[in-house]
Amino acid sequence: MIESPHIWIPNFYPRVRAVVGLQWGDEGKGKIIDLLAQDADVVIRGTGGNNAGHSVVIGEEIYALSLVPSGIFNPNTLNILGSGVVIDPNAFIKETQNLEERGISTKNLIISKRAHLVLDAYKYIDALEEGKRGDKKIGTTGKGIGPAYMLKAMRSGLRTGDIYSNKDEFLKKVDGTLEVLRRLYYPGDTVVPHVLQAQYYEQFYDNWKRNIVGRLRHTEAVVNSHLSKGSNILLEGAQGVLLDVDHGTYPYVTSSNSGVAGLVNGSDIPVVAVTDIIGVGKAYLTRVGEGPFPTKREDEWAKKVRERGHEYGTVTGRPRDIGDFDGIAVGYADRLSGFTEVIITKLDILSGVGDLRICRRYQIGGGVTESFITYDLGKCSPRYRPEDIYKGWDYDLSQVDKISDLPKEPYLYLQGLADCFIESSRDTGPLGKISAVGNGRERDQIIVVK
Ligand code: IMP
Ligand code: MG
Repeated sequence: MIESPHIWIPNFYPRVRAVVGLQWGDEGKGKIIDLLAQDADVVIRGTGGNNAGHSVVIGEEIYALSLVPSGIFNPNTLNILGSGVVIDPNAFIKETQNLEERGISTKNLIISKRAHLVLDAYKYIDALEEGKRGDKKIGTTGKGIGPAYMLKAMRSGLRTGDIYSNKDEFLKKVDGTLEVLRRLYYPGDTVVPHVLQAQYYEQFYDNWKRNIVGRLRHTEAVVNSHLSKGSNILLEGAQGVLLDVDHGTYPYVTSSNSGVAGLVNGSDIPVVAVTDIIGVGKAYLTRVGEGPFPTKREDEWAKKVRERGHEYGTVTGRPRDIGDFDGIAVGYADRLSGFTEVIITKLDILSGVGDLRICRRYQIGGGVTESFITYDLGKCSPRYRPEDIYKGWDYDLSQVDKISDLPKEPYLYLQGLADCFIESSRDTGPLGKISAVGNGRERDQIIVVK
């Protein structure tokens, strides 16, 4: 009988830390994951595709990652693209080749055979759908993510493992998938765009086979054996809790479960194995794409924050909308996710921008609420009381490395942020669940609380 290592052996417990964005994405998870990855044996991406984008700053170098997990900078870490991820093979190959050219080895990067592929046709359909939505457009990244998850749920998708097939078989499979799109979007038409025809993909086959097949694994078995060994595993979230297709501001969401549960699921990890749930949130709020954003501001303050914080999409270059920290939204994210700790990023950006506000109440119709009403969020507008306004500061915080060295104003503001998260039964520090605060782009610009 073949012995299979089941989950883990008592006394040999793995550490599994899930890291997710607790707002609408772009919280600066890349830097946090890069930091935590320094002692991780394995880093797994479990959701999304190359709609995600984050930059990691190492010394003078800035790396923009979309699909490759942020553990790639640690040569001892195994990086995995799990079954919940969707992969545009051309984008993946380009990203790994760029890293290699810059001296970052990608040999420790493997891909689940069950991860779905994103074809150029999906980007075409993504754009087509957006066009049809008119002023109700979602503002997608245009990377074909929606169609990829749609076809996956329809059980008509293509998976990375399909690249094993020989060229003819592969193109047949591609045709089967494209047939669904042709039936939906071009019923009865004899002329359909080239990208919706299997022949278009013939040009890519050799390159995909050469660059992808060598990385394909039954990653669930790899992950399971790491669990049994008691490895230190990091799950890298993409997007954020408020963009989750179930929990976010639907339909202005991404097409995957970008919250903690989706991440754990797409990483092939048993839920019970997760030891830490780390929410990463920015000291202010941004959103890119369409959808309700009650605390959004379009004043000078917002402009200053955008420029100081380089708030332009990593993937699309779009300027991000900027707003006050929404305490109601993060409380909601916390209740859904059960954060064991929270890391606040980009506190340094708020130096010199003026007073700050934390939203703790919305006005809806004639009433006031302290709940995040996802369904009706578009009808909510923030109501600030004097105690929701925090005095700004001009100090440069980028050199602070101890929480006790933080001046009074930013400390009070952080206390205000900490109060928005629910109390924890864990042993927390002076700022509640907030365990660290980012104060610059560099790896070491982080203040550990406690
Ligand atoms: P899609 O994921 O490209 O379909 O886009 C759906 C929505 O999610 C749009 O509002 C995007 O701007 C947003 N979105 C997707 N990925 C990210 C991300 O990594 N950061 C921030 N917003 C994102
Ligand atoms: Mg991003």
